[in-house]
Amino acid sequence: MDVTKFAIPEIIFGRGSLNYAGQCALRLGARKVLLVSDSGIEEAGWVQRLMDILRKDGIDWVYYPGVSSNPRDFQVEQGAEFYREHGADVIIAIGGGSSMDTAKGVAIIASNGGRIRDYEGANRVNRPLPPMVLITTTAGSGSDISQFCIITDVERAVKMSIITRTLVPNISIVDPLILQTKSETLIIQSAVDALAHAIEAYISTIASPFTAMQSLKAIDLILRYLPQAVATRSMDFLEQLSIASTAASMAFSNASLGAEHALAHSLGGHFDMRHGVIHPILLTAVMRFNLYHAEARMAEIGRVVLDRTVGTPRETALAGIDRLESFFASFDVPLRLRQVIAEADRRYLEPICRMAVNDACNLTNPRPASWQEFLQICEEVW
Ligand SMILES: [Fe+2]
Repeated sequence: MDVTKFAIPEIIFGRGSLNYAGQCALRLGARKVLLVSDSGIEEAGWVQRLMDILRKDGIDWVYYPGVSSNPRDFQVEQGAEFYREHGADVIIAIGGGSSMDTAKGVAIIASNGGRIRDYEGANRVNRPLPPMVLITTTAGSGSDISQFCIITDVERAVKMSIITRTLVPNISIVDPLILQTKSETLIIQSAVDALAHAIEAYISTIASPFTAMQSLKAIDLILRYLPQAVATRSMDFLEQLSIASTAASMAFSNASLGAEHALAHSLGGHFDMRHGVIHPILLTAVMRFNLYHAEARMAEIGRVVLDRTVGTPRETALAGIDRLESFFASFDVPLRLRQVIAEADRRYLEPICRMAVNDACNLTNPRPASWQEFLQICEEVW
């Protein structure tokens, strides 16, 4: 086996773990916290709740609300300016991937300077970042665990993947109680994003035994509990989705992702669509594309998805993909690209696919896809 490494943050998991946010910040030496979140989390009452917790622990904070979905380069750069102006020393983000990725981008610029695009790609951040406590409000993005940060370069209309060990936050807080205020759509989209993380990490060229076990556990839990979580909104099932997402995040943070996320980033950057919308559309098509290059591992995924094997490994792999397609079809989500992209915009697919080739996630796909192959996948799912 090749030399491997496995990096994760300290994880505080469980119902009510949000209450530990202040103590976490104090342990990291906080005197003034930069708080990052977005309007949706504010409206759900979680930002106020967090402010109250910090106040109770005697922690001073300033609030940076400049977060949108698909966070932009200038928002991150303005946030870093805000961090420096207010003399903050610890960053706490509460939200989904957008809030947490904004916080990570702010941390990079606050300590390393320059523009966020200077850090696109793998291992380009040299100086240590300010301490970070990330509190996830979804069971999906995994930004609270991962060494990934996805920021849109507005000028090029592309999502940049910034990947470096120093982006693993000091502390991740995963409180499943927060999922209770999420819409059904968001729960489904987040869970399918986590499923895509688990599957792509499992067949990644840099997967290890430590990431593989997390991937398989996540796949099993999502298949088993997502329908019940959506139907009943019971805490027991939502908690299982939080466990699944955390496991999937440990896997993909260390094994990276694949062609599906490369294409998802490129489409999402161009059309400013929500990241979670795209996976039920793309995931199984990319799995079919990868099948012959990772057959044994795809069969293992099939075995977990089906909870049994059928015939040969290839047959098990294919039956698993079929099962995933009917799983996605059981939810009220778009399954074709034409449902989320207008016919008139179809002409942009070629430049989007050319861009996807260069995404860092494509490098660890069982075989990197060419732009023509990406375009073929887009046509298949149109
Ligand atoms: Fe993702």
